[in-house]
Amino acid sequence: MGKTCIIKTMEKMWAGRFSKALDEKADDFNSSISFDSRMYRQDITGSIAHASMLAKQGIISSADCEKIIAGLGDILDDIDGGRLEIDMNCEDIHMFVEAELTKRIGDAGKKLHTARSRNDQVALDIRLYLKDKSSELTALLRELIEAVTEQAEKNKSAILPGYTHLQRAQPITFGHHLMAYAMMLLRDISRLEDAVARMNLSPLGSCALAGTTYNTDREFVAEKLGFDGITLNSIDGVSDRDFCVELMSAYSIIMMHLSRFSEEIILWSSWEFSFVELDDSFTTGSSIMPQKKNSDMAELVRGKTGRVYGNLMAMLATLKGLPLAYNKDMQEDKEAIFDSIDTVEACLEVFAPMIRTMRVKQDNMYRAAQKGFINATDLADYLTKKGMPFRSAYKTVGQIVAECISKNCVLDDLSLEEYKKYSDIFEADLFDEISLETCVSKRISAGGTSVASVEAQIAYVKKEISK
Ligand code: ARG
Repeated sequence: MGKTCIIKTMEKMWAGRFSKALDEKADDFNSSISFDSRMYRQDITGSIAHASMLAKQGIISSADCEKIIAGLGDILDDIDGGRLEIDMNCEDIHMFVEAELTKRIGDAGKKLHTARSRNDQVALDIRLYLKDKSSELTALLRELIEAVTEQAEKNKSAILPGYTHLQRAQPITFGHHLMAYAMMLLRDISRLEDAVARMNLSPLGSCALAGTTYNTDREFVAEKLGFDGITLNSIDGVSDRDFCVELMSAYSIIMMHLSRFSEEIILWSSWEFSFVELDDSFTTGSSIMPQKKNSDMAELVRGKTGRVYGNLMAMLATLKGLPLAYNKDMQEDKEAIFDSIDTVEACLEVFAPMIRTMRVKQDNMYRAAQKGFINATDLADYLTKKGMPFRSAYKTVGQIVAECISKNCVLDDLSLEEYKKYSDIFEADLFDEISLETCVSKRISAGGTSVASVEAQIAYVKKEISK
């Protein structure tokens, strides 16, 4: 079967009271089909549930209902199978589906919109669409967490400097550092789940705004479509886009996490750090400088974070002045949220394999950890544990660091005699106490950097993502 299209210049379904056609530019301006056509599956699924309810309640006959459901099923199959092209001359996806149905099954198709308005229809479609997308994004987040955890496992004892203020601070393991991202990404999943749980109520049956005079069964539709219940105020049902704002905030936080991770990957990949090397398949070269290997993917993720934030701001700004109930301004919700979803999806799709294939240069990390006095806290703790008050120990170690700086050496290089000048408490065991391995292995506090603690974090995350 060839592709079919609805008549090119459609008469508007709402044309009844109008004596003139809509201006061509105004028609294009008003139309949302170029972006809401992606909700065709949700629109059809919602309509099937609505038709079943109308028949169950005796509002339409079961014969009409059967025709409607079969017709809608065929339309869905034909779109999925590429046999039916969505007609971009229609105003929106809701009108396209209804017009195509009526073209196929005649008068029965005209009964589908009984006890419904596009206002509750679009509110339904977008919730259904966002629910579907949230599970896809969750699956992608899981994959990324898996990739991060895998790298953490391989590098659970690789020592590097941990930074604060981007200054070398204390020794940590790379596994520990990576697991921080795993925790952030786990929260991202739970944020999506929270938002979905709150929006999981069906607005269908709110109709234009005031409800309907027909004896509908909204709970029936809600249950058929996998909702937990129905929205309880019909005006709110058609006016509410809080769930878009909540999800877009969750998307923004995901991007903020990916952007921080990207920034670190970019730094680590530089000659100056040289802690990791991204696989050739996730880097690009320069058209002029033959030596270059750029972390373009990470840079793009960092860059795209801005547009996801922008979409959230656009959504909030669109909603802030709207009187209840539906206003056409609300059609703007879709491009913004769809763009955010597409962006987050694209970023996650490239991020997981980029992390999985990243080569970790453990030797360089270790070398960096040997400089920068990152064991100074441990030296102070050594004195404290032997009885010196922490503040005095802190001051003493500060003076020792200053001596090392003037001698261009590190704490491990001074002799016991040199240490004794500062305090009698120092014994030969201090050297073992400030070795990088000891600094790491002694940090056994829950959540800390010791291998055992990182293993516990890995086990926790694995358990969480297998739920
Ligand atoms: N395309 C519209 C939207 O996305 C559908 C709802 C139209 N409702 C209306 N009363 N004009 O918001």
